Amino acid sequence: MKVLGIETSADDTGIALIEAQGSFGSDFRFSILANVVSSQKIHASYGGIFPALAKREHAKNLPKLLQQLSTSDVDATDAIAVTVGPGLEPCLWQGITFAQELSKRWGVPIVPVNHMEGHILISMIDFVNQSSVNQAYGRLVDLNFPTIALLVSGGHTELLLMRAFGKYEYIGRTRDDAAGEAFDKVARLLGLPYPGGPEISRLADCARRNALPRLMTLPRPMVTSSDYDFSFSGLKTAVERYLQSHELQSLDREKIAREFEDAVTDVLLFKTLRAVEEYGAHAVVMGGGVSANRHIRRVLGERLQEQGVRLLVCPPEYSADNALMIALAGYFHALKNPPVGGCAEPANLKANGKLKLC
Ligand code: KG4
Ligand code: ZN
Repeated sequence: MKVLGIETSADDTGIALIEAQGSFGSDFRFSILANVVSSQKIHASYGGIFPALAKREHAKNLPKLLQQLSTSDVDATDAIAVTVGPGLEPCLWQGITFAQELSKRWGVPIVPVNHMEGHILISMIDFVNQSSVNQAYGRLVDLNFPTIALLVSGGHTELLLMRAFGKYEYIGRTRDDAAGEAFDKVARLLGLPYPGGPEISRLADCARRNALPRLMTLPRPMVTSSDYDFSFSGLKTAVERYLQSHELQSLDREKIAREFEDAVTDVLLFKTLRAVEEYGAHAVVMGGGVSANRHIRRVLGERLQEQGVRLLVCPPEYSADNALMIALAGYFHALKNPPVGGCAEPANLKANGKLKLC
């Protein structure tokens, strides 16, 4: 089955085409025929995403990206997978409308996809030869359930229990800012551009490499609470307060970035480890933009390994929003619930900014 994926939930416009066969547990494999993303640089100076601007950029980017795919591949598409939520609704609608037009033109069905499931699934893939699209392919890792999913992105920070493939139960989530949002806000306070995650991470690495002394101590919010919820907005406030009362010296930003990254890592690690223990999980699947963070990957990976638990996380280039993960999720849904052919159904598709996984 050839599945075209479309992703427009935030500021990245993505189109991907995969050819997949098999199903979970029975030799699923796929090859990547195309995977193109256009990241909207336009938001960098605003310190966040501007929905109306993002929507306009998606409208411009989608046809351009589609043109980059080979016509013979596109002509043989069997289904179109499109993100319907969660995300910014004006942006989601842009992707949905584009999918509807293609569905009509090609006479193929649409499969609605939850963006967060895309982030989970792509971290469950074993990629082979990923360095070159067209020869890259992948299969699902062998996985025992229960498994814990840790979703960390710009809009979400959630812990989920997976008792089986594709079955999700929320066990905790952030009560205020998402982890990525906290990275972005602290970056802004430090005068760094959006998205803040990679910038903070770069400064924090510098502080670690040079073993710079500690400048301040940030809280580890909710680390001792008995639930699996998170709270990250206090970290931003604490950094803000520090900056209001201190004159920054050379390398202070590096020290603050490291302390902030350590605080986020500690909280994510502690809650995840506790969930692993309580539910007897065999693995943790980490997904979302923040999962590109090298420090978080290393610390979580090492600590979980000590407990005999695997950390599954996708290659960093697939951590950010992309349409490959949407095509993959769409394929599994199309297998379970073959979408009705033709173009009648797609008209009922709706964007849902707050779409849940269960
Ligand atoms: O999943 P994603 O691409 O978009 C959403 O669905 O939100 O996540 C974007 C978030 C941004 O907040 C960005 O700052 C963060 O992921 N991010 C990182 C890193 N790379 C991206 N956060 C920490 N460390 C990174 N290396
Ligand atoms: Zn995302």
